[in-house]
Amino acid sequence: MFNKRTKIKDLLSFSADNQSVTVMGWVRTFRNNQFIAVNDGSTNTNLQIVVVLGSQPDDILRRIVTSTALKISGKLVPSLGKGQSLELNCEALEVLGDSDAEKYPLQPKKHSLEFLREIAHLRFRTNTFGSVFRIRHSLAFAIHKFFNDKGFIYLHTPIITSSDAEGAGEMFRVSTLPFDNPPRDENGNIDFSEDFFGRPTNLTVSGQLEGELAATAFGEIYTFGPTFRAENSNTTRHLAEFWMIEPEMAFNDLEDNMNLAEEFIQYLITYVLNHNAEDLAFLDQRLLEEEKLLPTDKRSELSLLQKLRFVTDNKFERITYSEAIDILLQSPAYKKKKFQYDVKWGIDMQSEHERYLVEKHFKKPVIVTNYPKDIKAFYMRQNDDGKTVAAMDILAPGIGEIVGGSQREERLDLLTKRMTEMHINPDELWWYLDTRKFGTVPHAGFGLGFERMVLFVTGMTNIRDVIPFPRTPKSAEF
Ligand code: 4AD
Ligand code: MG
Repeated sequence: MFNKRTKIKDLLSFSADNQSVTVMGWVRTFRNNQFIAVNDGSTNTNLQIVVVLGSQPDDILRRIVTSTALKISGKLVPSLGKGQSLELNCEALEVLGDSDAEKYPLQPKKHSLEFLREIAHLRFRTNTFGSVFRIRHSLAFAIHKFFNDKGFIYLHTPIITSSDAEGAGEMFRVSTLPFDNPPRDENGNIDFSEDFFGRPTNLTVSGQLEGELAATAFGEIYTFGPTFRAENSNTTRHLAEFWMIEPEMAFNDLEDNMNLAEEFIQYLITYVLNHNAEDLAFLDQRLLEEEKLLPTDKRSELSLLQKLRFVTDNKFERITYSEAIDILLQSPAYKKKKFQYDVKWGIDMQSEHERYLVEKHFKKPVIVTNYPKDIKAFYMRQNDDGKTVAAMDILAPGIGEIVGGSQREERLDLLTKRMTEMHINPDELWWYLDTRKFGTVPHAGFGLGFERMVLFVTGMTNIRDVIPFPRTPKSAEF
């Protein structure tokens, strides 16, 4: 067996009493022909390997450079150097993979995040991305644990669909028709009946509609999968391919929905605080140093760890959309014309408005409810005022919208009427409407943007840095 090794993370809690271990990893630094710092990705802490002078052939030592892959066996002993409690006295050393140090782009120094994005295939080997992606993993695991413990069914919804769940038309077409000469009907339009699926299809923007079908049988389900939006938003918060978690609950109203979303976010943060302390401490320090470069008034009032604890320990603020607009209209920022976009009832709040509410006014996550129906999707439950729907968005400090959800319109007549008003053909969604015909029930759900959650927890500021290989307008490398 090749892989009989101890991970560095596990070994750090061993006592340094001469026990024999084998470690495999990549060289971060090699000093004085004697001290090798090895990292194996299980933790940011490198293991110091001590090579007794003269104990290893020179031609082997010459091959040890930053990023060489090594297998080292030896004994764990207390370390005399500072920064570590134990080190490994090397007895056997094997080069698993050589590296061309001259060409290796990751030198042991600080690189900008922009540069690291260009070498996303190697950035996992830095401390920052080591921490970010271990936390991303933890969050994914915690999401399944949260819902599994509550008895929700994990539902796999299709990636290729023929419907537009959000009705926003921001979809990537999936087709095998030839681009240069597609078949056409007698009116000259592309004839999709000859396409692979015999109809136009696209990548899904959301699994919600299928989620509702399953929720009206199992009671409570969640999805967790990739979703795709062809919106041309080149911002630090938007991806063309992102992961979304969408729970859907029968017998739930808007308030149940908000309660679940708040509990869920607090659970995820608590999980990471308990399971990723070392990585969080690293990112906390990293953010502190980044912010030292900013003018004082642009720095955060709380450190990353303080912010996370604040969110787990305090209730989210809950306000209606109308209240939010009033607060904005009364704000010094509005009165001093600091907002780029106008504020009045009916607007789709811009990021600057959301961030004002969360970061300046309430200084905590805010749940905004009852949005104007004209800026929200067709499936949201219509309120009695005839103007608003039972929607809720959660806005997070530094992020803006992190969750979007609603109680769903369960009344068939009102739903079909709304669809027609919004130019969505009820015949094409016949299967969706069937749930409203055969035992319809009040139900609700929401979508949490996974990368926005990872951004929030890691304190990173660009969404491209929390997904391994980001897809954004004009960019799909790797
Ligand atoms: O608000 P959205 O569009 O809601 C839905 O898709 C509903 N079907 C959810 C539901 O009720 N089941 O998206 C939900 C969340 C947003 O709040 C945001 O966090 C994230 O998904 N999101 C994006 N994240 C990254 N890049 C994008 N382009 C995103 N668009 C939405
Ligand atoms: Mg939304």
